Amino acid sequence: MLKGKHILLGITGSIAAYKAAVLCRLLKTAGADVQVVMTPLAKQFITPLTMATLSKNPILVEFFNPENGAWNSHVALGEWADCYLIAPATANTLAKMAHGIADNLLLTTYLSSRAPVVVAPAMDLDMFAHATTQRNLSELRQTGVHVIEPEDGELASGLSGKGRMAEPSQIVAFVDALLEEKKKNLQGKRFIVTAGATIEAIDPVRFISNHSSGKMGYAIAGELAERGADVLLVTGRTALPTPTGVTRCDILSAEEMHRAVVEAFDSADGAVMCAAVADYTPEHCADRKLKKNDDDLVIRLRRTKDIAAELGSRKGDRILVGFALETDDEEAHAREKLERKHFDFIVLNSLRDTGAGFRGDTNKVTFIDAAGSEALPLLSKREVARRIADKIEGLIQK
Ligand code: C5P
Repeated sequence: MLKGKHILLGITGSIAAYKAAVLCRLLKTAGADVQVVMTPLAKQFITPLTMATLSKNPILVEFFNPENGAWNSHVALGEWADCYLIAPATANTLAKMAHGIADNLLLTTYLSSRAPVVVAPAMDLDMFAHATTQRNLSELRQTGVHVIEPEDGELASGLSGKGRMAEPSQIVAFVDALLEEKKKNLQGKRFIVTAGATIEAIDPVRFISNHSSGKMGYAIAGELAERGADVLLVTGRTALPTPTGVTRCDILSAEEMHRAVVEAFDSADGAVMCAAVADYTPEHCADRKLKKNDDDLVIRLRRTKDIAAELGSRKGDRILVGFALETDDEEAHAREKLERKHFDFIVLNSLRDTGAGFRGDTNKVTFIDAAGSEALPLLSKREVARRIADKIEGLIQK
């Protein structure tokens, strides 16, 4: 897959830079053209001579060559690349990337490149675990940067923990899978994806809602669209960008979501019900802000419509995928929903698993269908979306 691909390899100032030599070698062996760009500090860790020899291209560090004034265009470099791989990526470079700071060639190229960007962080365990680094990584992920998680193991500091750059062979495998042409196996298929939390108004100011971020549903919508499907994303309020190629319908309440989904279902080939829909809504929404007094307040709630159950009752040969978030007796509850709502399969997350559920960028799920259950390891939500799309493709081909 890497044959003839242009890989721009960014190297930053980490002790793991020595592994960039092996990485470059593996990329070349796989048939890729490699151009290396280094930060000034990276040159202290691995020589430009080594990298130039292995990549068979001169190394770029400065904006121009001080001897002859030749300009190293970050725009041209960005355009040349099929993938911009930054390995190792230090906490400093990740922080600058997250904030749009462009004070060296490696960073300006990041801002001007439209190619997919992959980073392989490498740093001390405390630097990696620091809330600032994690926030920067989360922002980069939301911008679409692919992060190859570092490994847990012995570090250059002598300490042991999470921060070791992933092995070069793993990095190459990741880039290879990323650049693999997505087969448009879902071309001509129409899917509805629900995502995010609904908002049930109490009065013009207050509402009842939940912690769903919408990230899982957005990742699924994006993945199905990449495989050629025509996707309608019916979404509660989120701060997430609309995935490329997806039609977005913004709703607030469960009632509005019900209307939008039911209307689109007749002409759809399937639906993935990822939204965290409120089960109850205030019986009346006050038309003015409720005034407080010394008494307690009682709000009467009525049941909302179960959108998934309604689709299940008139599913026909459409594909219907459900989600379940359980806190106890997970599998039994999920199985009961699978049958009652006529899902083809259900994606179960348990709040008991660390790294699973709301807000985060990772999820740990179990697929449950009539044939049995399959527990997946902790994966990024993007990867979980790929696995769900694979399973949907499997059902279509049956
Ligand atoms: O019963 P429970 O809410 O746990 O079921 C979860 C599944 O049903 C999810 O797929 C969710 O999106 C869907 N659902 C729905 N409408 C509701 C409640 C849940 O579509 N009112």
